[in-house]
Amino acid sequence: MVLWLTQIIENAEFNGGLAVATIFRTLSYKYQWLYDGISSLATLSVGGETKFRNLALQGLTIDSNTKILDLCCGAGQTTRFLVQFSKQVTGLDASPVALQRASLAVPQAQYVQGLAEAMPLDTQQFDIVHSSVALHEMETEQLKQIFQEIYRVLKPNGVFTAIDLHEPTNLLFWPPLATFMWLFETDTAWQLLKTNLVTLLQEVGFKNCQQTLYAGGSLQVVQAIR
Ligand SMILES: C[S@@+](CC[C@H](N)C(=O)[O-])C[C@H]1O[C@@H](n2cnc3c(N)ncnc32)[C@H](O)[C@@H]1O
Repeated sequence: MVLWLTQIIENAEFNGGLAVATIFRTLSYKYQWLYDGISSLATLSVGGETKFRNLALQGLTIDSNTKILDLCCGAGQTTRFLVQFSKQVTGLDASPVALQRASLAVPQAQYVQGLAEAMPLDTQQFDIVHSSVALHEMETEQLKQIFQEIYRVLKPNGVFTAIDLHEPTNLLFWPPLATFMWLFETDTAWQLLKTNLVTLLQEVGFKNCQQTLYAGGSLQVVQAIR
């Protein structure tokens, strides 16, 4: 039953969903109010935006000198929570438009334009690398390169923590997730649902890799130690 439903949803995606997603996705990146509105709606599944933005930070020790990289920071949606804990937050994103918005919204952080898979950043300089709902935009091979880069820029015993989409374990969470993905996401997000991030992280050399599921399994937090 679950397999059958999953196949129907995935076929719908590949039989036209991509075109719809391309339109809505472009609009959501163009109009920040649309992106933020959708984010707020999506975060209701875990109790709201503040709870959502803090999920990947649970259990971490952060003080004002903790060096944190907000990888694929977008317009600073999570950066603005990170700067409440640390004075040493850097946001990296490929998009100059996103970075311009981030630097206006969260001027307390520093910003770097670059690709996550080839970061223009020195080796072993961060205590924490954090990534919020960005991994689902990457191809699997790209993810492997990104994890190698995260490993490179983290200090020994530094922590990688990420929150992103996951294949629901509760059937009731499939319709809202599939609708969201059909409207806004492309094939890489569907690929992520089939990808075991813990395995990829272990292949790169990360240790103590842990995955915690939320919202009926439709969200995952992964944490790993360098
Ligand atoms: C869905 S947004 C997430 C933004 C923010 N982290 C949040 O929590 O809402 C994904 C971001 O990843 C960035 N991005 C996508 N591919 C990238 C890459 N290869 N390198 C760096 N940034 C990338 C996009 O420009 C976009 O700002």
